[in-house]
Amino acid sequence: MKQQLEAIRTSALEAIAATKSADELDALRVKYLGKKGELTSVLKMMGKLSAEERPIIGQVANEVRAKLEDAIEAQSAALAEAALAQKLRDEALDVTVPGTPVRVGHKHPMYVALDELKEIFVGMGFTVLDGPEVELAELNFDRLNAEEGHPSRDWSDTFYFDADSRVMLRSQTSPMQVRAMDTMDLPIRIIAPGRVFRKDEVDATHSPMFHQVEGMVIDKGVTMADLKGTLNLVMEQLYGKGTVTRFRPHHFPFTEPSCEMDVQCHKCGGAGCPTCKGEGWIEVLGAGMIHPKVLKMAGIDTEVYSGWAFGMGLERMAMRRFKISDLRLIFENDIRFLEQF
Ligand code: DAH
Repeated sequence: MKQQLEAIRTSALEAIAATKSADELDALRVKYLGKKGELTSVLKMMGKLSAEERPIIGQVANEVRAKLEDAIEAQSAALAEAALAQKLRDEALDVTVPGTPVRVGHKHPMYVALDELKEIFVGMGFTVLDGPEVELAELNFDRLNAEEGHPSRDWSDTFYFDADSRVMLRSQTSPMQVRAMDTMDLPIRIIAPGRVFRKDEVDATHSPMFHQVEGMVIDKGVTMADLKGTLNLVMEQLYGKGTVTRFRPHHFPFTEPSCEMDVQCHKCGGAGCPTCKGEGWIEVLGAGMIHPKVLKMAGIDTEVYSGWAFGMGLERMAMRRFKISDLRLIFENDIRFLEQF
């Protein structure tokens, strides 16, 4: 019987040491020490022993039981420790490993130019308005004194949505003047940047989609002197103090009188060079005193109020600001080009 116990001890200790998981270990505990376990069944036969043998075998049996219990406990601790070490290894996070760099974009050069312009006007008390690109011909033309038959209303110039030419892609930001008059309280000082659309072929200076910035002031006693003073100040802020400008008479249906504003070429100082195409001057915008008909159509009393307005091309402004020679570069969104600004 003693030999039996010794055999159990040897095989059990070996098996315990070889376990790889808590489950395996538990299975062994049941196999050897459980109610129907091997050691227990040997102990159950103790009753058949003689009185002299019993205490000796009993002692051995207790020793074996204690040994097995100790071994199981030790192995259980070792397995738990190994499992924890493995978990730590699996979940290890090396915070010193360099991260994956995020590609950071930046503002499009045209929007850099627009933001500068907005800042100048906002500093002078103007509000920035946003408006729809799909516009009523009524606002784009009629309310701006461009009646039926006006050349700009032609199908060959304008993107209409319907056969009776009522809904269109706006061809200018000027309808924002009407929207402002219809919705805002006087006095009004606004700029309205946005996309406009015309049936133009793409080339170095044309695109069927481009951007304008509209501007408008309506208040009591506003004159052409306010128009010139304000726009001269804007040009000085954009192109530096002492920038020379000139105003040429022009025609727009919604302003009277109307003008175009030029700045003296900053490259050649007016002598003529490739930048100004030999002119010495660069056209920057159209402007004028708002036609009384336009004010009246908005229900504004022209005896009390007057106003001025302007419209400028944003791409052209950005091209001058960053010395970009081809309009197409602005829209192609080639990262190699955009990253230079
Ligand atoms: N809307 C005109 C255009 O697209 C530009 C313009 C001229 C706007 C004179 C104005 C203005 O507000 O007063 O050519």
